[in-house]
Amino acid sequence: MSTKTVAPALAVTDVSKAFAGTQALLDVSFAVTAGRVHALLGGNGSGKSTLIKILAGVHRADPGGSVVVNGTSVAADRLTPGLAREIGLRFVHQNPGLIRDMTVVENVALTNGFSRTRYGGVAWGALRRRTRRLLDRFEIEADPNQQLSELRPADQTMVAVARALEDDQDGLSTLVLDEPTAALPRHEAAFLLEAMRRCASTGHTILFVSHRIDEVLAVSESVTVLRDGVEVLTREAEGLDEQQLVQAIVGRSPRAVYQVPPATSALEACVEVEHLRGGPIHDVSFTARKGEVVGIAGLLGSGRSELLRMIYGAHPRESGDITIEGGPYQANDPSSALRNGVALVPEDRAADGAFLDMSVLENLSIGQLGKFREPLRFRHDLERAAAREDIEKFTVKTQSPSTPLASLSGGNQQKVLLARCLRSAPRVLLLDEPTQGIDVGARADIFAILSEHVARGLTVIIVSSDFEELARVTDRVLILRGGRIVADVPAQSVDAAAITELVYSAPMGASS
Ligand SMILES: Nc1ncnc2c1ncn2[C@@H]1O[C@H](COP(=O)(O)OP(=O)(O)OP(=O)(O)O)[C@@H](O)[C@H]1O
Ligand SMILES: [Mg+2]
Repeated sequence: MSTKTVAPALAVTDVSKAFAGTQALLDVSFAVTAGRVHALLGGNGSGKSTLIKILAGVHRADPGGSVVVNGTSVAADRLTPGLAREIGLRFVHQNPGLIRDMTVVENVALTNGFSRTRYGGVAWGALRRRTRRLLDRFEIEADPNQQLSELRPADQTMVAVARALEDDQDGLSTLVLDEPTAALPRHEAAFLLEAMRRCASTGHTILFVSHRIDEVLAVSESVTVLRDGVEVLTREAEGLDEQQLVQAIVGRSPRAVYQVPPATSALEACVEVEHLRGGPIHDVSFTARKGEVVGIAGLLGSGRSELLRMIYGAHPRESGDITIEGGPYQANDPSSALRNGVALVPEDRAADGAFLDMSVLENLSIGQLGKFREPLRFRHDLERAAAREDIEKFTVKTQSPSTPLASLSGGNQQKVLLARCLRSAPRVLLLDEPTQGIDVGARADIFAILSEHVARGLTVIIVSSDFEELARVTDRVLILRGGRIVADVPAQSVDAAAITELVYSAPMGASS
């Protein structure tokens, strides 16, 4: 190298990966300076997770590329999980394998092991002291014996970070995180990013994936953008503005601002919920009108997902009534929800809703096969045409309609689920964290599609940790706290900061 630069902690050179028919990565090269926070960005399906999985030795790169970590060069197609660790790479995957019902100590022991007493039992004392040190080192406010679920969400993720870096006291390793903030509300995300920054200040190099442009600009010192598997931008974050970054990610000027038009016929009630109780829901009443978009904001544990699932009939209800367009609705199970025109896009798509082994086409037409059935035959041609239409409309990046859902990127799987729900022409659409993992370009597209349906009278109820988005795309925001709605505010009068404040401090019992 001719110019004097700080040696990169991580250098990726000419890494390529083709899956049957899809060029996920093509000759990707970039380097990350030691001790920096570097963001890896790109639209859904641009190859971010594939690159991370190659670094982790989960996917094998095509021959030809190389990876240099702290001066050790390895052929990219030779990386294995063991070798990745040996040369100093550490990972926190999107699902970091934390167990919420276990204590912090147990979560640490789970991946990092523990020493035994002379009699063969777990040396609890030593394990606790070790965990205590680890918590202190990463400034995590928790007791080793606390249940993980009692920690604030950002600290839970930090336990995964701390655990990954436990054996690296010298700060030499590079930590790679795939969408660590996707499931966190903004203020929790900010807290986690701050902790990541502290981590970098002790020497660690950090590579992380995020779809939230503002947080990327707030925390990263440099960025790399992938588009369709090709590296299109690597530079310092300083002087880079949101517009430029979005342009690089999307490859075109994105739709200006996405906005759901304010409720037009906001008179006719669509969903009326009265004194709903069950599980974490203590007493919830509200009305959502036809053509209205209602947001629900609450902290983890406030009962936000349970409330949606209860309306969908997937969570037991102890008491309370729900009516839809004036008619009683039993909400006993999802099939009665479907019959009554109630659809749900769940938060955890892998656990419910997405059939990963089935094709994109099958995932789209499940539940509506009747549409393609004629007396003597099944109209595969029509089924396929409908799938193609949705794939185009939702810009689903897939090789073909028959590609298994599992081989789509996370954001693209989410689009398929949304498309399926809208196909059933629901009266009420319940969305739980609908844009988690969805890139900036696709977000705008999705809300544009939703607003068409809303203009025709669809009622949408959205639970989201992205309060900025809630303030922007809804007509009203209900603040859920401790299983009760404590505030009901028109969206145009609040912003993300105001919602955050309400979520934490709205007086309990304001509406109970
Ligand atoms: N196991 C697989 N088999 C076939 N194709 C795959 C597989 N995994 C990923 N792909 C394809 O490789 C491309 C890149 O996917 P990848 O998961 O890396 O995207 P991503 O940038 O992480 O997107 P997202 O932001 O949606 O998570 C996509 O076209 C995807 O469909
Ligand atoms: Mg991904």
